[in-house]
Amino acid sequence: MSSIKETVLQKFAEVYGSAEGAKVYFAPGRVNLIGEHTDYNGGHVFPCALNIGTYGVARKREDNKLRFFSMNFEQRGVIESSLKSFVPGGDKNWTAYPKGVMWAFEQRGMKMPVGIDLLLFGNIPNGSGLSSSASVEVLTGSILRDLFGFEVTNQDLALIGQYSENKYNLVNCGIMDQFAIAMGKKDCAIFLDTATLQYEYAPVVLDGAKIVISSSNKKRGLGDSKYNERRSECETALAELQKVIDVKNLGELDEATFEKYKDAIKDDVRRKRAKHAVYENQRTLKAVAALKAGDLAQFGQLMNASHVSLRDDYEVTGIELDTLAEEAWKVPGVIGSRMTGAGFGGCSVSIVKDEAVDDFIARVGEAYEKKIGYPATFYVVQVGDGPTIL
Ligand code: GLA
Repeated sequence: MSSIKETVLQKFAEVYGSAEGAKVYFAPGRVNLIGEHTDYNGGHVFPCALNIGTYGVARKREDNKLRFFSMNFEQRGVIESSLKSFVPGGDKNWTAYPKGVMWAFEQRGMKMPVGIDLLLFGNIPNGSGLSSSASVEVLTGSILRDLFGFEVTNQDLALIGQYSENKYNLVNCGIMDQFAIAMGKKDCAIFLDTATLQYEYAPVVLDGAKIVISSSNKKRGLGDSKYNERRSECETALAELQKVIDVKNLGELDEATFEKYKDAIKDDVRRKRAKHAVYENQRTLKAVAALKAGDLAQFGQLMNASHVSLRDDYEVTGIELDTLAEEAWKVPGVIGSRMTGAGFGGCSVSIVKDEAVDDFIARVGEAYEKKIGYPATFYVVQVGDGPTIL
């Protein structure tokens, strides 16, 4: 069996005539273990990079042209564009992700002197909530850095990726996804304070257990989801709190302080949203402490509590993700299970004892299909490194 590297190089040669001078790159996807919808509230997150992600083959051209081909959208063929055709907010194709990053580099004074031929292949299930778009962004950034010698750190790649997503693709995402991908480290999750970007690697030592991703197969588009609405609900709640307490963001509050001042938030729904942001951040701190202390059971309990809060207070789960989590909780050997990512479809993440994985997949799979009417897909994943040149 040929490796993915050989396969993508071969395809590149087929599509663009030859693969001479082309290089192969990889950027991972990510899964967030806990700390959901906290990254735009100045809270903490605890994601890790995966061993699945996006492969890119790239080669410099001698003119201004940009050519794109995705093995995930083969029927769209080669899409031609140029260095002069960046349209922030106006690009509808999948190429808006790599082009957004090229545009963002240009905004920072790093203009590509020539165009490139690019081929992408992703083995992250598309629309699954494992950040295929952030993976493409960080991948593109690392390609530009390598091909043109732009001086940027991996953390810059994360910030440039987020900037391009916010300003070119008009999705108001936080920093978590791009950071988790650009800064990924094998067998470690990243404990990131999104208010300061201070971070720490925490070994994910799952003695005798595995990370299982369950994809709901319900497609989710961040742009047209309720994501931006949740964000502004939190912003309004914060503004209300700021009338009674000196606080820069919801992530600064602990539970007791929130309870003391929460009546300043004049609307029940907004109060629930803010409660989630505050409590979820505190849960993340506790979960990381539990993991460091080797208390995986406690970590799992906090994951479950995170799901409940996302279901009842933040209301971003829906029947598909609730079914995945609630069925998982019933299976012996499941340490913890919750939705991951933005919600509204996408995936759940579960920590499952080795010997229970098959049973987990069978039982959750059966219950899910029975209730939802179509199957879920399961992936046993490993925690991988950030972007690499292959
Ligand atoms: C999406 C966004 C992230 C983060 C999560 C929710 O993945 O891109 O910035 O807000 O949702 O935790």
